[in-house]
Amino acid sequence: MNPVYEKLLTCYESIQKKVDLEKFQPKVAIVLGSGLGDYADDIEVLYEIDYHDIEGFPVSTVPGHAGKFIFGHVGDVPVVCMKGRVHYYEGYPISDVVLPTRLMKMMGAEILFLTNASGGINPDYRAGDFMMLTDHISVFVPNPLIGPNMDELGTRFPDMTHVYDMDLQEMIRQAAQEAGVDLKEGVYAQLTGPSFESPAEIKMLQTMGVDAVGMSTVVEAIVANHMGMKICGISCVCNMAAGITGNALTHEEVQEAANQAAPLFKSMMTNSVKKFKTLL
Ligand code: HPA
Repeated sequence: MNPVYEKLLTCYESIQKKVDLEKFQPKVAIVLGSGLGDYADDIEVLYEIDYHDIEGFPVSTVPGHAGKFIFGHVGDVPVVCMKGRVHYYEGYPISDVVLPTRLMKMMGAEILFLTNASGGINPDYRAGDFMMLTDHISVFVPNPLIGPNMDELGTRFPDMTHVYDMDLQEMIRQAAQEAGVDLKEGVYAQLTGPSFESPAEIKMLQTMGVDAVGMSTVVEAIVANHMGMKICGISCVCNMAAGITGNALTHEEVQEAANQAAPLFKSMMTNSVKKFKTLL
């Protein structure tokens, strides 16, 4: 058997021993980005599983990325939420980076809500803004579908025309308005990190039509799209990208900005997930 698929099954069996997926089947999968983990407080928790307790599961080493799955409800929508994710720059193979996304689909999730922290490139953005992803650029990171296709999961050559679901986007727009958030919309590019970009790289990305840049999310969207999930994403623009304001960038600044944005983020997320109910 394909070792990537085998590892996925091992993790799935490990989860099954801890959560009765017959009784509780998550329908929406949420991934919380850097500094946004506190959203988990808004979930009515039924079970928690520390990533360390899942056989073969990749565990993050980054401060601010405490790792666990949270199972519970947002309103009456059953969710599984990742508090913390692993990044490619930590040295994991890309198949490990996307394993949790695939696992949440196997648990039953039909919708994937990706969140992250990013650097703003669009000159109309300010630190603390939220941007809904309308499209992405993946060409700077390895494609997670490289290798033998896992036909059990999806097709060899998946279409990428509408990765970010139009209905979900519309619900997020409404949810943001209700929460009083002036939601931006744009194109997100994933780079490997861990170094932040140089000003010249940011200029290049700007020319390419990128509105915000980060170190996650796109590879997860690719595998979720491969598996036929409905996908949406919100980025917290935690700083303006290198060279735009001239200020140096630090991880602490990114986390601080995400923490400050947390209350608005929480209400926008909760409003959105409740609206997703109509699609389930
Ligand atoms: N660049 C890349 N990733 C990021 C940034 C940035 O400026 N801010 C937060 N994550």
